[in-house]
Amino acid sequence: MRPSHQRCGSSALASTASVLASTALALLLPFAAAQSSPDFPVRDAPRLPGNAMQSNGISLGFLTQWGSQYEPTDVIRALGKSPAVWGDYWNVWPDEYDFRQADWHLGEMRRVADGDVKAVYAPAVLFHGRMNQWTQEMTDALAEKVRDVNEQGVPIWLRFCYEMNGGWMDYGLQPEDYVSTWRSVTNAIRAVTNETYMLWAPNVWNGDSNDIQAYQPYWPGEEYVDLVGLSLYSFGPYRSLNALPEDDLFRDSFRPFYNLVSPTSSSRNPLGLSRAYSVVIAETSAPYYYEIPVNSPYYTQAGDTDISPPMPNLNRTRPSLADPPYPRSDDELAVKATWLVQMVGNETAAAFPNLKAVSLFNYLKKGNGTAEVLADFRYVGSRDRFNATIEEWLRTNYGNNTAYLEGYSGDASAIRTSLLGLGGIVAVAIVVLAL
Ligand SMILES: *[C@@H]1O[C@H](CO)[C@@H](O)[C@H](O)[C@H]1NC(C)=O
Ligand SMILES: *[C@@H]1O[C@H](CO)[C@@H](O)[C@H](O)[C@H]1NC(C)=O
Ligand SMILES: *[C@@H]1O[C@H](CO)[C@@H](O)[C@H](O)[C@H]1NC(C)=O
Ligand SMILES: *[C@@H]1O[C@H](CO)[C@@H](O)[C@H](O)[C@H]1NC(C)=O
Ligand SMILES: *[C@@H]1O[C@H](CO)[C@@H](O)[C@H](O)[C@H]1NC(C)=O
Ligand SMILES: *[C@@H]1O[C@H](CO)[C@@H](O)[C@H](O)[C@H]1NC(C)=O
Repeated sequence: MRPSHQRCGSSALASTASVLASTALALLLPFAAAQSSPDFPVRDAPRLPGNAMQSNGISLGFLTQWGSQYEPTDVIRALGKSPAVWGDYWNVWPDEYDFRQADWHLGEMRRVADGDVKAVYAPAVLFHGRMNQWTQEMTDALAEKVRDVNEQGVPIWLRFCYEMNGGWMDYGLQPEDYVSTWRSVTNAIRAVTNETYMLWAPNVWNGDSNDIQAYQPYWPGEEYVDLVGLSLYSFGPYRSLNALPEDDLFRDSFRPFYNLVSPTSSSRNPLGLSRAYSVVIAETSAPYYYEIPVNSPYYTQAGDTDISPPMPNLNRTRPSLADPPYPRSDDELAVKATWLVQMVGNETAAAFPNLKAVSLFNYLKKGNGTAEVLADFRYVGSRDRFNATIEEWLRTNYGNNTAYLEGYSGDASAIRTSLLGLGGIVAVAIVVLAL
């Protein structure tokens, strides 16, 4: 996603864009061949705390809507435990590169990097320019900024110019300039600090590996990358219909990336890596969509922008497209819990042993402009009128495989689906187990 176009003033993030989760899924092996071989070493996820919220060894991260009531300490209070990773977005323009979001958020980060859980800060650098407009001065300013943050006791995973394989980024689809910029930024940072780790993080792509939107064209080389991540969402049909993710959506979408960066042997290792990477899902959610009534102030708000606090009460708002021709709108908890369990359940952990963290994009946004919907990506936010049932489910069940299997309260009580394709329209039938 692509937040914030705000240049100055408040620390609230504005806006985002869209991530195109490719639905063209390759036919893939299920979860065979995933064990790491003792011959093929793995790099740890640097500084990832071992005592934060975990599910089957997969740590939880959050991209909170900074400037709202949900700064990291608020999320920790809501969950009763600390996540391991805190995302952020640092906006940069060709004529403005003081990385002020780092300053606004440093106090919070010092607190959450210095508690019982020593959390990692994972800012994404969002550049509003073409890659060849990135200058040496920007590189120097960025290196100085991360060093300053590190000197405050806060380790960084730097998600520099993420989703670079997406056309929605100004710097997107420019692989040569991207790779050379990445390398010089990495060199500059390493010259001044050893506590900022370079997190290389494209958007999910499951098409041809030679395509400009594929991963390989953007690979800077093993010596320049400390950790790898992926943006991967379950958007639902048309990005505006509430439907459970299809059974293997996560596994099938993630597998090609995982195999590329976390090979188990040197024979199937297209990047020629000497060690497998630890992998994180750098951004994810399964948004729940609501219709926006014509008389709502959000109706005229531009598409693909953040909703600012105070957050609306959505409990009288109709979930989108609940009417024919769509048979129903699935339950919010079913949608969100199903997706989360696909990512952090024990079968996923067994299939992807080097998947180390999953970061939830905890925002409420206006839909992308072609549909008048609110897209609620949140899992936490009951104090700000977000559905408390979802937050409670996350709080009590994260990491509990029995609870994952048993289901949960709500209209849909099973985390199981079967998918029917109907001439381009995807219809989803939930297996509802009593209640
Ligand atoms: C960073 O460098 C300092 C000074 O050389 C050293 O004491 C410290 O252990 C290093 N930290 C890491 C995480 O490598
Ligand atoms: C917006 O959503 C519509 C409906 O899902 C989709 O067809 C379209 O591609 C999206 N547009 C962008 C810019 O993401
Ligand atoms: C709807 O929201 C109002 C105000 O936040 C709250 O008092 C009420 O209990 C909610 N109703 C339901 C059904 O959640
Ligand atoms: C909150 O989520 C639960 C579980 O999905 C659902 O049953 C309920 O209707 C939702 N409440 C509101 C007010 O949207
Ligand atoms: C996952 O956990 C469930 C519930 O504890 C258990 O029945 C199942 O065998 C586990 N599966 C794997 C692959 O570990
Ligand atoms: C896990 O979930 C099950 C089913 O909801 C529950 O009975 C059990 O107490 C939970 N375990 C823990 C450790 O919370």
